[in-house]
Amino acid sequence: MIISLKEGKLLCFVNMLSSRFFNKGNSGKKMSLVTVSFVTFGVLIIISCVFFLNYNNCSFAILEPRLNHQNNEIVWKPKGDNKNLTYTESWLKCEQNKTAANIAGFNSLPGHIKDFLYYRHCRHFPMLLDLPDKCGGPEGSADVFLLLVIKSLPKNYNRREVLRNTWAKERLQNGVWIRRIFISGTQDSGFEEMTLNNLLEIEHLKYKDILQWDFHDTFYNLTLKQMLFLEWMERNCPHVRFMLNGDDDVFANTDNMVEYLKNLENNDGSKHLFAGHLVKNVGPIRDPDSKYYIPVQVYKSESYPLYCSGGGFLLSGYTARTIYNMSHSIVLLPIDDVYMAMCLEKAGLHPESHSGIKALGLQIPDKNADPYDPCFYREILLVHRFLSVHMLVMWHHLHNPQLNCSLSTKM
Ligand SMILES: *[C@@H]1O[C@H](CO)[C@@H](O)[C@H](O)[C@H]1NC(C)=O
Ligand SMILES: *[C@@H]1O[C@H](CO)[C@@H](O)[C@H](O)[C@H]1NC(C)=O
Ligand SMILES: *[C@@H]1O[C@H](CO)[C@@H](O)[C@H](O)[C@H]1NC(C)=O
Ligand SMILES: *[C@@H]1O[C@H](CO)[C@@H](O)[C@H](O)[C@H]1NC(C)=O
Ligand SMILES: *[C@@H]1O[C@H](CO)[C@@H](O)[C@H](O)[C@H]1NC(C)=O
Repeated sequence: MIISLKEGKLLCFVNMLSSRFFNKGNSGKKMSLVTVSFVTFGVLIIISCVFFLNYNNCSFAILEPRLNHQNNEIVWKPKGDNKNLTYTESWLKCEQNKTAANIAGFNSLPGHIKDFLYYRHCRHFPMLLDLPDKCGGPEGSADVFLLLVIKSLPKNYNRREVLRNTWAKERLQNGVWIRRIFISGTQDSGFEEMTLNNLLEIEHLKYKDILQWDFHDTFYNLTLKQMLFLEWMERNCPHVRFMLNGDDDVFANTDNMVEYLKNLENNDGSKHLFAGHLVKNVGPIRDPDSKYYIPVQVYKSESYPLYCSGGGFLLSGYTARTIYNMSHSIVLLPIDDVYMAMCLEKAGLHPESHSGIKALGLQIPDKNADPYDPCFYREILLVHRFLSVHMLVMWHHLHNPQLNCSLSTKM
C-alpha cells in the first residue's frame, strides 16, 4: 500500500498522541479516567479529521510555519525537521478576503462571482502531485522542444487516455522531444473528491504526466490554474523551447506543430511567440446567465485586449516566462485567455494569428462531405472540439502512408 503524504501526517499524529499518553511515565500504572477521556478525545479528533475536515486541517499536528528568507513567504515544515521539504507541502492556506464583501453591489452578484472575489488574491496552493523531473531538471529543460500543457479536469480520464495514445504521445518527433503534462485541481467534495484524487494518483504513478494542485478546479479558477502552471514551469522547466497550451478536447496535429516551430526563423524559443486563433473587438459579457459573465466589479473596461482563444495556442518559453513575470502585478481575471493577453499587453507584446489553429472548429466548404475526412485535417495545427472516437480514428488515418487526398480537400 502506498501511504500518501496526508496519510503520513495522520500516522504521525496518531503516533504522537499514543506516545504522549501511553509511554511517558505511565508504564505499569492503570490509566486514569482523565487519560482515557483524553485518548477518546484524540480518537474523536482523528475521526473528524478524516471524515469531516478533509485531512488537511490536521496538519497543525506536525507542521510548523517558517519564513522563507528568499521571498518572505511562510512555508510549513515538519516540527523539528531541518531537512528541506519538497515544494509539495509548502503553502499556507489562503484566507478569504472578507472586505471583498464591501464592494458596491456585492450582495446581488451570483455565488461563483462572490467566491471569485473572496479568493481572488490566492495565487499559491499546495501541490498534490508534482513532476519535478519532467523536463530533466531546470538545466535539462532546453532539450524539451515542445511541452504539451493540457488543461484537464480530474474526471476527464477517458480524454487523457486517448490523448496519451494519439497526438500527446511523448516522443522524439523529427529529431526533437515532445513531452506531455496534464494540469488539474480538485473536483467535487467528500468521498467523490477522494476517489478522483486517487484516480489522478494512479495515473501519476503510471504515466508521470499529472500536475495537481489543491484548489477547486472550476471554470472561474482557470486563470489560477494557468498561473500555478507558469510558476511550476519557472521552477522546473524554465528553458523549455515551446509549449502548446490547450484543452483536453482539441485535436492537435503535433507533427505539424513541430514542423512549424522548427521552421521559425531566428526563434529557438528564446524570443516572443504567442500564436493561435485571434479574437478581436470583444468585451466582457455582462449577462449574469452567461458562462462567461463578468460584472463591472470584476472588470471595469468594456473591452478586452486582442487575445488568442484558450482552446489551444502555441507560445515560446520566453513568452511564458514573460507572462508569468507580468502576472505578479495584474489582478486575476477569471477568463484565462483574456488574462494572458492582459499580461502580454503589459509587456508590450502581441498575440498573433495562425491560420492552422481552428479554435472555433473547421468550416468544411462541401455540405455533403464527411466532416471528419482526414484530408481536411492534414495541414491544420489544431481543431476544437474533438471527442474520443474521432480523435483516435483521425490520428490513425493521418499516419497512414496510403492516405490519398485530392487537391479539393486541401484546407
Ligand atoms: C535546503 O536547500 C537549499 C537550496 O535549495 C540548500 O542550500 C540548503 O543546504 C538545504 N538545506 C538542507 C538542510 O538540506
Ligand atoms: C480584499 O478586497 C478588497 C476589495 O476588493 C481589496 O481592496 C483588497 O485589496 C483585497 N485584499 C487582498 C489581500 O487582496
Ligand atoms: C478557486 O479555488 C479555491 C480553492 O479551492 C476556492 O476557495 C475558490 O472558491 C475557487 N474559486 C472559484 C471561483 O471557484
Ligand atoms: C521580470 O520583471 C522584472 C521587473 O518587474 C525584471 O527585472 C525581470 O528582468 C523580469 N524577468 C523576465 C524574465 O522577464
Ligand atoms: C491510395 O491509393 C493507392 C494507389 O492508388 C491504393 O493502393 C491505396 O489502397 C489507397 N489507400 C487508401 C487508404 O484508400
